[in-house]
Amino acid sequence: MKEKMRTIREIGNIKGKRVLLRVDLNVAMKESKVIGGYRVKEIVPTINYLKKKGAKVIIVGHIGRKPNETLKPVADFLNRKTKVGFFPKTLNKDLIGVIANMKEGMAIVLENVRSERGETENDPAFAKYLADLADIYVNDAFSASHRKHASIVLVPKLLPSYIGLRFEEELKNLSMAMKPKHPSLLILGGAKMETKIPLVKKFLKTADHIFLGGVAANDCLRAKGYPVGRSVVSDSISELGMLVKNKKVILPVDVVVKASDGVSAAKAIMDVAPGDKIFDAGPRTIEMLGKVVSRAKFILWNGPLGNYEEGFDKGTADILKIIAKSRAQSVIGGGDTLAVAFRIKVHRKVGFISTAGGAMLDFLSSGTLPGIEAIKKSRH
Ligand code: 3PG
Repeated sequence: MKEKMRTIREIGNIKGKRVLLRVDLNVAMKESKVIGGYRVKEIVPTINYLKKKGAKVIIVGHIGRKPNETLKPVADFLNRKTKVGFFPKTLNKDLIGVIANMKEGMAIVLENVRSERGETENDPAFAKYLADLADIYVNDAFSASHRKHASIVLVPKLLPSYIGLRFEEELKNLSMAMKPKHPSLLILGGAKMETKIPLVKKFLKTADHIFLGGVAANDCLRAKGYPVGRSVVSDSISELGMLVKNKKVILPVDVVVKASDGVSAAKAIMDVAPGDKIFDAGPRTIEMLGKVVSRAKFILWNGPLGNYEEGFDKGTADILKIIAKSRAQSVIGGGDTLAVAFRIKVHRKVGFISTAGGAMLDFLSSGTLPGIEAIKKSRH
């Protein structure tokens, strides 16, 4: 097996070649408009590189998890950054002819690859159909490379395979987190605590401090015997006992709650009432965490501290502002945290912003992803 993956800069002669480019076009939409286009903007350099070298670029991406979701608005958004066409089907007999008629340097986005069951079912026949459209495969979808889907793990078995510029950037920056400078701090928030436990366990060995916010904090506060009222919690996470005893783990000392009458207030953790719902970290917690952030030399962050969707993003915003002023290396991922960074305009001041959420967690806890292994194993 090749240890190193080849990047698009190592493709010999691209001119006139058909390149199947897998990207992640899974972005937030509101009323059929793209509202968080960071992921899309970040793949433009790869598309432009391939176009400039004279490739015919066939762009394959997904949106959402339902087969009927369309990529058309995302293709329109991308078209405003770099010229691309849109083909409204993924599997279609006319497509091969359309590609044959493409001129060198042209790019076309195919409809949501998840509209075909063969994609998520990792069907070899669907992978062969995709591979037959092209001469070369490029994966620039780091953020979807934790999925064992046909366009991620099977197509590299059939075509000479490379990674794109954004994929390379993600690897370089996330790898820094494996050997962090000290003192180092891991901040974990958001929901889905069960997906984060492996990362916490791994970073308990290397990080100096681990702050838990969001649902993770609710779970740990509950495990320590504090009242959490009607707050969102995860079920049966057996490892919590071990976590809450570890001295590296920092939990909120106060929280912002919404009472049953809808009024929000900051409260010490022991004062949360049965009707309260925790929505954010409180001001004393932010002050305490802010001090740890200011001293840290490396910060890794995934998931917001509060419930972003309900408008509770003050804790996240305050910590982002402190990171923006600090000299620490920082790596930040997860869609909601990024959305806050963009809203308060600190996204250019906070180090590396990963386009990945779940893939970032998987990569950091296991050191690899199915999409990485597939490119490494590609025999071409
Ligand atoms: C993401 O948004 O993290 C990626 O696009 C993967 O999406 P998925 O979780 O639906 O596979």
